[in-house]
Order: sequence, then C-alpha cells, then structure tokens
Amino acid sequence: MCGIVGYIGTQAATEILLSGLEKLEYRGYDSAGIATIWEGEVNCVRAKGKLHNLRSKLEAVEAPAQIGIGHTRWATHGKPEEYNAHPHMDTAMRVAVVQNGIIENYRELRQDLKQKGYVFRSETDTEVIPHLIAEFLKNPPSSQLAQCSSPFFEAVRQAVNKLKGAFAIACVCADFPDELIAIRQQAPLVIGFGQGEFFCASDTPAIVSHTRAVLTLENGEMARLTPLGVEIYNFAGDRLKKQPRLLNLSPMMVEKQGFKHFMLKEIYEQPGVVRACLEAYFTNDINAPINLSLPAEFYDDLEQIQILACGTSWHAALIGKYLIEQLAGIPTQVQYASEFRYAPSPLTANTLTIGVTQSGETADTLAALAMEKERRSALELKYQPRLLGITNRPESTLGEMVSQIINIHGGLEIGVAATKTFIAQLMAFYALALDLAYRRQTISPDKLEDIINSLRQIPKEIEATLERQENLIEQLAHDFAETTDFIFVGRGINFPIALEGALKLKEVSYIHAEGYPAGEMKHGPIALLDAKVPVVAIAMPGNVYEKVLSNAQEAKARDSRLIGVTPVNDGEAAEIFNDLLPVSNVDELLSPILTVIPLQLLAYHIAARRGLDVDQPRNLAKSVTVE
Ligand code: F6R
Repeated sequence: MCGIVGYIGTQAATEILLSGLEKLEYRGYDSAGIATIWEGEVNCVRAKGKLHNLRSKLEAVEAPAQIGIGHTRWATHGKPEEYNAHPHMDTAMRVAVVQNGIIENYRELRQDLKQKGYVFRSETDTEVIPHLIAEFLKNPPSSQLAQCSSPFFEAVRQAVNKLKGAFAIACVCADFPDELIAIRQQAPLVIGFGQGEFFCASDTPAIVSHTRAVLTLENGEMARLTPLGVEIYNFAGDRLKKQPRLLNLSPMMVEKQGFKHFMLKEIYEQPGVVRACLEAYFTNDINAPINLSLPAEFYDDLEQIQILACGTSWHAALIGKYLIEQLAGIPTQVQYASEFRYAPSPLTANTLTIGVTQSGETADTLAALAMEKERRSALELKYQPRLLGITNRPESTLGEMVSQIINIHGGLEIGVAATKTFIAQLMAFYALALDLAYRRQTISPDKLEDIINSLRQIPKEIEATLERQENLIEQLAHDFAETTDFIFVGRGINFPIALEGALKLKEVSYIHAEGYPAGEMKHGPIALLDAKVPVVAIAMPGNVYEKVLSNAQEAKARDSRLIGVTPVNDGEAAEIFNDLLPVSNVDELLSPILTVIPLQLLAYHIAARRGLDVDQPRNLAKSVTVE
C-alpha cells in the first residue's frame, strides 16, 4: 500500500507528480503530498483525504520546480492526518522523503535521533529516514565507500543500511537540487527513462503516459536519478549495469474509456480476459493440449497440494481445490496466508505449494511462501523448488520468490475490488487442474477435450450473461440501496462464489453480507433471516442443484426475499425465487466463471446507487503490503 512517485527533468514537476499519484491512488488514499525543490528550498505540500484535496491546495502555489517526489498514503503508523502525510522532512527542512512499506526498527532509530536533537513532527515510522540522511550529511563516514562521488547519495546509502523492514523510498535534498535517490527493499519500485527526464514510481501506470522504457529495481538496489541519466547501485555502493525494458502497457489501458468506474469497465473486460487465458493455456495439439510450461517434477509423485492466499485470491483458491481434487484426485488444502504463517501444517515430502496473489505483493502471502521455502530447505526435500505462484504480475516480488509462475493474463486492474483478476485466477486453476489430471491420467482424453471445448465457449457466454443482467440488476440495486444485511449461499463449486459475492458487496457498498454453504444455514445463520434480509442463492444444475433449491425454500419460509443466480429459462427456479439473475446454462464444473458475474454487478450497482466511491472504497488498498 501507499504509492510513491518521483520526477526529475525539464518539465514542471508538480503536475507530473499529481497525475502519477492519481494512477497510484488505488494503493491508498488517506492523505497525499508532494515535495519539490525550487530556488534552494524544499516546498512540501500535504493534505488529508483524497488527492483532490491536495490538488486544490496546490492551485494556490507557484510550481516551476523540475524535481520532486509525491506520495499517496494508506495509514499504518499514525492516523490519517496531515501531520502524518508524506513527504516527511528532517529538522532543518532540507531533506524530503516518501516511503511505501514499514521500517521495523524505527523505534530504536527514533530514540537515538531524538537524543541527538532531531525534532519529530509525526507519528510515522518514515520520519526517521530524513533525519538519518541529515545526520549522515552532517557527519559523513571518514571514507567514501560507494563508487559514487555524490555526498547526498552516500548519506542516503548509509541511512538505508541502518533500516530494517520492507520499503521503497524516494528522496530529494534542497542542497542537491539535481539528484533524486530511489531505493527498493521488498516493496515495488520502477524507474522510467524519458528524453532528458526520469521517473520513479511504485507501479508502471504512474509513468506510462510519459515513457514505456522502464527498469524494475530489485531488492537491495538504489537508483540515482539526475537530469543526465540514471545510475543503479547496490546497498554496498557498487555500480550495477542494467538496461530498461519496454512496457507492454498503453496509456489507454489506464483510462476508464467511457465507463463510469474502473470496476464496471473491468467487469465488462472479462470475456477478453478469458480469451487471453484460453489462448495462453490451451493448444490444438492433442499430444500436449495444455501449455503451462511447468517442469516435470511438479507432477511426479505429487501427494498433496497446499494453496496460500488472501481475500478474493483465497476464494479462487477454494475453487482451485475443488477442481484439483475432483479432476486430478490430489488432496488439496487452502490456507489463509495470514493464518498459515503462525500455524503451518506439517510439511510432507511430496507437497506442491502454490501462492495465489493478483498483485504479487501481498505481504502475508509472500511471508507464508518465504517460510515454506525455508522449511523446504531444512527438510532437504527431493524437489526443493516445488513452489508455484499464480499472479497477474509476474514481475512482482512473488515472481522473484518462487521457482515457477502461472501468469493469469488479467491485464491491469485499477478498481480496488478484484473482478477480472478473479476470473483470470479461475482460468489458471482450470488449466492447472486439467494439466495435473491429464498427466496423471485421472481424466479420459474425451472428457478433457469436452471440458476444453466448453471452456472455449465461455467468453461468449459471459457476454450473453452480461447483456442479460443490465436492466435487471439496476432495478434490484434500486430496491436494495437501503438494505443493511445480505446473505449469499451456494454449495459445492459455487460455495466460494457465495463468499466472493458477499465480499464484493461488503467492500464496495459497505453493506453487511455473509457467504455460507447453503446446507449450513439451518445450523445457526437461519436465525438471522426475516423479511429485511434478502438471500442470494446460486443454484446451477448439477450435483447439488436440488439441495440448493430446498435450502432456498427454507429461507423463503422465513420471509426472506430470494434472489436466484440460476440458468436462463429455468422454470423450476422461476417458481421458487422472487427475482432471477439468469446466466447461461453450462456444466456445473464451469459455472463459477458465470455465476460470479451477476454478483459483481449487484455489488457494483448497489454501491453506485448509494453514491459511493466504487473504485476506492474506504479503508481498503489494492495491494496490501503490510502484515
Ligand atoms: C477483494 C480484494 C482483496 C484481495 C486481497 C489479496 O476484492 O481485492 O481481498 O483479493 O487483498 O490480494 P492479492 O490477490 O493481490 O494477493
């Protein structure tokens, strides 16, 4: 969480920083600030709340500076108040710093710096950094250790070597107006290369409208940006040789393109996402129908799979478990990464561990995987590297951590609530489960062909499903705009969809919602039901169809208004449910890709009708890089 951006070049920095921060606001939006250098002074402007507050404050400020840094905050240490907003400065107001991450040893550093006379003005962990840099500028070490002659760079390097934690930092100093230093240690940071201008940012959308040539800093690296170019060093001060790459992202992709919100645009992008996954994962070669490029040892003697994830990715993992167990017959556990870290299951020799994270930056998932990696090396397992990541960002920290990646091809997702990346994660699990089943021969070639052919029809079924919902859901959103509680139920492969439907509604509309396995309702939650609590039931023909219908009737008998996500033209369902959200009639095994769509739209339209900020719901951030 938190987004940072930096600019040095020949244009006015303020507007470039503000527009960069706009693209990073998905990372946090409690407060924002920028610091620029002009005529030997740091000009630092900060504002509580969303970026437009900062923008209005800056309207009154003359802004000719050509160097600066900016930050949009998701509060960790200290309330979301202006005095805690970044940038933070040293006592003499010469050094300005923005940070994304956590400085774990800030208490000791703060104590020590206070004793030396530095004055702290915030409650943040970040504020130790500008003071430390100022201290090293004042008292430089006797010998210059870095292969860089800049005193500012050297002071920053010395300071960074004192920090413990996971962080990305950008800093400037009024006494060195031609230098911007950017640092990465386990929090993302990219450097952008323009014509006589250079950028740094937490994520590429912040700079893609200026340049597509970027370099992703690796952990333990620092970049020195000047108007003449970019130099990369490690924390020991050795100069490194690195080349930028060209981004496969266009400025258009970070715009709403006529949709009112990114969330809606991303819901409508789902047919294209599924097409991209089909193209990437499935071939026309009958001898190698699935193409995940995983090494053979991922399949040999595999006895168990454990999947670690958080939030929506955890819901996708539950569907993954269903598919892997039912198609490939491999026992599979799904764990919340945040729980697993402190109570891991015993590790058996032939276990494949999968981390699922859209962003590839979720702190809990990364920490759980790091722990697994260590446990494996202690066990001297036959196949050490049996760690697989499923992510939308192969270039993320996750990508560096695991031996293999399945790229989910979701494209950039800006709405904070995950929608198209959930569907993309499901597609990755279909491909993985089918690949495992194919190689272990737990599925016949005919059945495999059948499923792949049906998957190929899914994009047009999503299109049809989207079309069917448009007016229906807007009407429901109108009826439910004031509702305070919702229950979602499903069974079997659609139980995780009930959880996901409830999570989407909570996140964007702030309505209390619970997802339950339909058969569990009578063991307690049914006590919640009355005419004020609507129940959404997912009832798709297959193994549990009749069971879900009778569970729905039980809710109806308690006066709940019943909304059914059911196949189109289903007479039986039409008699039971008060309202229908019809989806195309597909095999139950594939149905989650369709049944989630009306639930995403329901959450979206209710939130939009309530006039809420759908793309940036309160208290949330898109990538949760703190524990
Ligand atoms: C829900 C949502 C979150 C994320 C969770 C994990 O809409 O966006 O619940 O799914 O924070 O994020 P990733 O997948 O990036 O690890």
